[in-house]
Amino acid sequence: MRFELLAFITAFATTSAQAVVGTAYGYGAGATGGGSAAAVTPSTNEELASLLADDTPRVILLTKTFDFTGKTATGAGCDKKTCSAVSNGGQFYLGDLSCGGSDMTPVSSITYDAAGPDALPVGSNKSILGVGGKGVLKGKGLSIQKNANNVIVQGVEFTTINPQIVWGGDALDLQGGNSKIWIDHNKFSLTGRMFVVSHYEGSAATLSNNEFDGVTTTSAVCNGDHYWTIMMIGKNEKWTLDKNYFHNVSGRAPKLGQDGVNSYFHAINNYFENMNGHAFDAYTGSNSLIEGNAFVAVTQPSTDHAATVSTFVSQGGNACSAAFGRACLTNSVDGGSGKLASGTSTGFISKLGKIDVPNVLDASKVAAHVKGNFGPKNLGAAALAAPTTPATPIEAPTTPSEPATTPEAPVVPNEPAAPAPIAVAPPAGAAKLYAQCGGSGFTGPTSCEAPATCVKMNDWYSQCINSSSKFRRALGRYF
Ligand SMILES: *[C@@H]1O[C@H](CO)[C@@H](O)[C@H](O)[C@H]1NC(C)=O
Ligand SMILES: *[C@@H]1O[C@H](CO)[C@@H](O)[C@H](O)[C@H]1NC(C)=O
Ligand SMILES: *[C@@H]1O[C@H](CO)[C@@H](O)[C@H](O)[C@H]1NC(C)=O
Repeated sequence: MRFELLAFITAFATTSAQAVVGTAYGYGAGATGGGSAAAVTPSTNEELASLLADDTPRVILLTKTFDFTGKTATGAGCDKKTCSAVSNGGQFYLGDLSCGGSDMTPVSSITYDAAGPDALPVGSNKSILGVGGKGVLKGKGLSIQKNANNVIVQGVEFTTINPQIVWGGDALDLQGGNSKIWIDHNKFSLTGRMFVVSHYEGSAATLSNNEFDGVTTTSAVCNGDHYWTIMMIGKNEKWTLDKNYFHNVSGRAPKLGQDGVNSYFHAINNYFENMNGHAFDAYTGSNSLIEGNAFVAVTQPSTDHAATVSTFVSQGGNACSAAFGRACLTNSVDGGSGKLASGTSTGFISKLGKIDVPNVLDASKVAAHVKGNFGPKNLGAAALAAPTTPATPIEAPTTPSEPATTPEAPVVPNEPAAPAPIAVAPPAGAAKLYAQCGGSGFTGPTSCEAPATCVKMNDWYSQCINSSSKFRRALGRYF
């Protein structure tokens, strides 16, 4: 029954409007993307590029693979003696940025796909939506332009961006000063450099329900696991990472901040599995709350450097109460994983504001939940599945959460204005077309702006649907 239902919705969506599923939350709250703009479905790479680039509100549906590969270029660079792209399954390094040191051998000509290094520029006010798991960007990523805001990327697969070449391209980069960014239910694989990277000025964003699939034959550390996963190193970064699936990656999953730079991270309910390398890497100045995550077969849940950062907190105890009205969640680390460090400077947590996530899970439920919901193919699954599905129990946490520590000096964010309180609760009044309008535990408006009406999908999710559309009438027969 559930399969038929999804198949029906998918089939319909390709011929009619597809909307953002769910509502942005956490540090990316407030993102509405293209809002209620009429959906457009580009058919060529050029059309897609032109629709993305300006600040006009647009809902852009990706219904196929946009393949940018095929045109090659060559450039000088280097190879690593101890992890060679030629003989050990390593990566080449394009250009001379990484070519210092006795371990590097010059290579006069490296062939790469010309499209990889320059991602598609993305302006403000965009919903970029993969439809039915079919929206694929192959060979080129997306670059959210400096100070662009209000961008939703949902259900899109990023792949094959010069995976054999460091500096061959990033999948998704944020140029900085970006706010209201929601990156949800996407898949990242086979990329030369970072799957997601935010640089320079810092951004406010939520990464949720994404798959970071590091399986590769060309790894910078020659172990079959992609090293360059996520890096947020700008000033005053504010990121929520919720319910993402990290697997077969070996580094920077994620890298939080850089020494001396102030930033905030909330990583909750993520699932880390089969990693020959490290998950969290953190730097002094980053304020990181790491809670309710599950680690299975992860060599290093946190780096030695993260262990030196007092504000890298994975055992927050009661310090979450002031911000979230609940204790911090315990993380779950299985016997096949290394140690997850925790600093004791929890004072920053009370300043996090209303960024908690809508569906807070005990770590014992994270593996099953994430595995049933990650990536483009599971988009909509959470809304349709019963949340009471028993989670497969994973190993109970062995470290009890510690009591709240004594308060430390207040952390003063280095920007002029603290971020406006994030609207976790939807505003009063009628909900907009395609917004949630009901469901167990939902506290927002239950009426919809005309002509939409609130349609119950199941006990946990109701949505504002255009009452005069064929879609609504068809849905009426199903729900
Ligand atoms: C689109 O984005 C720009 C730049 O962020 C913003 O100023 C503008 O108000 C937005 N337009 C609409 C219609 O939302
Ligand atoms: C992912 O990692 C696990 C553990 O190292 C390994 O057994 C598995 O084969 C890897 N997956 C792929 C597709 O390589
Ligand atoms: C609602 O559906 C009608 C009929 O299909 C259409 O004319 C109208 O533009 C739609 N309104 C919105 C907001 O999508």
